[in-house]
Amino acid sequence: MVNKIFKENWTKYFGKDNAAYLVNGKIAIEKGLKILKSKTVAVPTYTCNRVYEAIINAGCTPIIIDCDYDLQIRLEQLSKYDNIDTVIVPHMFGIQALNEIKAIKKMGYKILEDCSQCLGLPELGTYSDIVIASLGPTKWLPVGVDKEKGGAVLAYKGKNINWYDNTTAIHRSNVMFGDIDKIFLHRTGRVNELKNAGLRFIGGERPNSWLRAMYFTQNQTRVPYTPLHDLHSGFKCPITDSIKDNLDWVSIFPNE
Ligand SMILES: Cc1ncc(COP(=O)(O)O)c(C=O)c1O
Repeated sequence: MVNKIFKENWTKYFGKDNAAYLVNGKIAIEKGLKILKSKTVAVPTYTCNRVYEAIINAGCTPIIIDCDYDLQIRLEQLSKYDNIDTVIVPHMFGIQALNEIKAIKKMGYKILEDCSQCLGLPELGTYSDIVIASLGPTKWLPVGVDKEKGGAVLAYKGKNINWYDNTTAIHRSNVMFGDIDKIFLHRTGRVNELKNAGLRFIGGERPNSWLRAMYFTQNQTRVPYTPLHDLHSGFKCPITDSIKDNLDWVSIFPNE
């Protein structure tokens, strides 16, 4: 019963015809790339290294792409490579990369959309081939308490796959699914307070579900992520290099 509810919720939410609960986001990405039969996979430099590890675990070749000043994947760089077949779009920090997804689809690539940091917005899943969302403790819908077994959604087209069998966690995710709109309103309300106080955030003018309210600063106190191209050599990302020491954020968590 809990599995049936989970499947109904997420197939409808992401507009796919199947969905499964997996142990974490990294494994969901690996599985998604295998379903897509991906070989060479582009990923923006601003994302979690676990995304990169998933690409390797799926047996694919990763291509790290620069990000724009809005911290999302820089489309112009994709055409520098002629062998990319799949692009992972992670809507980083809650900023929805909807225009990017539409353009990437027009360019003919397969798309794995990663909504771990971005739920609550319209059209998620509409233009992508596969959607994943980690439900781990620091993600948009923080269902899981355990970082390695935080759980994840994989929504896709195709036959049933094996689920991670954790009835308690799946039940908890079904309950929290019903809170998405409430959490979204809470986050947006908090950001509006901050905006009214005069703060200006990156991605504030576009669809944003506000996992973190990112801003440029001369006084960086925290590094949001070490960009992937600084962890794995061979890729040049000049725009990210020009801004990576000038970013900071305000956390927008539901219970803070
Ligand atoms: C955008 C994004 N996708 C996927 C993952 C991996 O999810 P998990 O930690 O559940 O494996 C992370 C971070 O962990 C992430 O930030």
